[in-house]
Amino acid sequence: MSHRPRIAVFISGGGSNLQSLIDASRDGRLKADIVLVVSSKLKAFGLQRAAKADIDTFVFRLKDYPDPEAAETDLIEKLDAYDIDYIALAGYLKLLPASVVKKYRNCIINIHPALLPKYGGQGMYGHFVHEAVIASGDKVSGPTVHIVDEIYDNGRILMQEEVPVMPDDTSETLAARVLEAEHRIYPQALQKLIEEQQVRSRGS
Ligand code: GRF
Repeated sequence: MSHRPRIAVFISGGGSNLQSLIDASRDGRLKADIVLVVSSKLKAFGLQRAAKADIDTFVFRLKDYPDPEAAETDLIEKLDAYDIDYIALAGYLKLLPASVVKKYRNCIINIHPALLPKYGGQGMYGHFVHEAVIASGDKVSGPTVHIVDEIYDNGRILMQEEVPVMPDDTSETLAARVLEAEHRIYPQALQKLIEEQQVRSRGS
């Protein structure tokens, strides 16, 4: 890849991690361009963030298609049209179609709000994660950025940052502390992946 990498960010909600990627791309910490934001929800606030940053958006919902195959084909065509090199999931609550995972193998990352492999897997998202951490009595938590494969929260871990769990934490206060760390490491982890692959392609 000799050009500046082109990123699609997938969201379902507020998009604060999307914002951290946009900011990092604009101030030079992330040497890549966010060129497309895909949302599973029409009203996701992240779509407004994308519009404000002048980034194209695409609302992708299975219910808008006659069958899952038609949906997958349309999504792949969209990613092709934007010449996407990497996909960053940022609060995306749907499973990516298998054909997308296959086509972008090792080029899709996700951020999870706990220290994987603990507190991952299906159903472990949002407040469920932080509630489980607090209930366990663990003294540390923190985000994980990992490669996405066919299994939930399973792929190679690229980066983690530990944050303390305080005795009086609620899932909200812990989520806020973890989210701050997410915003720091997500752009760093994406940059790390890009650099790893640039080194590998020079070596081959
Ligand atoms: C984050 O906590 C992230 O770890 C998880 O979903 C949340 C998304 O938040 N995957 P935002 O939409 O980026 O603000």
